[in-house]
Amino acid sequence: MPPSPRIALFPGTFDPLTNGHLDLIRRAAGLFDRVVVSVLVNADKRPLFSVPERMHAIRASTTALPNVTVESFGGLLVAHARETGASVLVRGVRGVADFEYEWQMALMNRHLDSGIDTVFLMPSEQNTYVSSRLVREIAALGGRVDDLVPPAVADLIAARRRSDRERPA
Ligand code: PNS
Repeated sequence: MPPSPRIALFPGTFDPLTNGHLDLIRRAAGLFDRVVVSVLVNADKRPLFSVPERMHAIRASTTALPNVTVESFGGLLVAHARETGASVLVRGVRGVADFEYEWQMALMNRHLDSGIDTVFLMPSEQNTYVSSRLVREIAALGGRVDDLVPPAVADLIAARRRSDRERPA
């Protein structure tokens, strides 16, 4: 019997997807048979982009990676991992500032389901200072972000700026 495929789940808010996220998705796609990138549906927050917009941007940015699929989820991450058939969670760590939060979340997820482990990946050095929060802030203030995000996200941001300009004050 062939071994069952190694499925990894990369969960996140992805508001929006950055070059750092894409770097991690590429690395994960090289390590696992299948990678499911899953966007958190968080009703409490007011995101910049809707979940369908974020999923579209991730799909458009990963067309060259045939073992990557895109989903969304609400509720407990470990329950979603089980439904997906994933035994590994992928998370990125850019530096020590990320570590405390990620470490706590990884151990809590393993407490909730001992069959699920978290694998931390590091992006390349030029992506260590890139974050969705800073991209949103720079974009809102009219700065250039097209070298920080994949082209599909740059298009979304440009379209949002156009529609904001056209909206009557
Ligand atoms: O990109 P983010 O915002 O850092 O991703 C955070 C995410 C989606 C991984 C985290 O908020 C999450 O797992 N939410 C699902 C709710 C859950 O399972 N909470 C317990 C985890 S310890």
